[in-house]
Amino acid sequence: MGSLYERLGGIKAITGVVENFRDRVAGDNRINQKFAKTDLGRLREMLIDQVCEAAGGPCRYTGRSMKDAHAGMKVTSGEFDALVADLVATLNHFKVGKTEQDEILAVLGPLKTDIVEVESSEVGTPLPRTYEPAPALSR
Ligand code: HEM
Repeated sequence: MGSLYERLGGIKAITGVVENFRDRVAGDNRINQKFAKTDLGRLREMLIDQVCEAAGGPCRYTGRSMKDAHAGMKVTSGEFDALVADLVATLNHFKVGKTEQDEILAVLGPLKTDIVEVESSEVGTPLPRTYEPAPALSR
């Protein structure tokens, strides 16, 4: 099979991955405080489109750049690593193969410098009061 999108199993499989990942993050006290102001319906849509497009599927991501979306959130490198660990747990849950996992992690790695603002292994840090979330999807 060709594209990563096809190998993952298309839009239904990607939707399942995003929902499992969202539930895992929601229960992870190392990072869930950062989502205090977030419209989770929007985030679900944005993550599905982003993963689908990055994997070579027929979607178009219309959200903010990774730098803009996470600016002012004060995400630490420890929190970034915790989120990636939750994603790996989700991929293992769905029995996504090592080749596909490595392809996904290779896309995410370079985003770290756009997302992490605090070089620290600390986790569970609060969302700054000044953080401005994205508007909810009007649909
Ligand atoms: C490779 C890692 C990551 C990717 C690919 C990613 C991707 C995204 C995407 C696509 C959005 C939606 C942007 C929009 O609505 O315009 C988003 C929003 C968000 N991300 Fe991330 N993210 C990553 C890491 C993190 C980390 C480490 C945290 C915190 C621990 C985090 C917290 C958030 C929050 C709270 C929002 C919602 C922003 C809002 O309220 O508007 N993200 N992320």
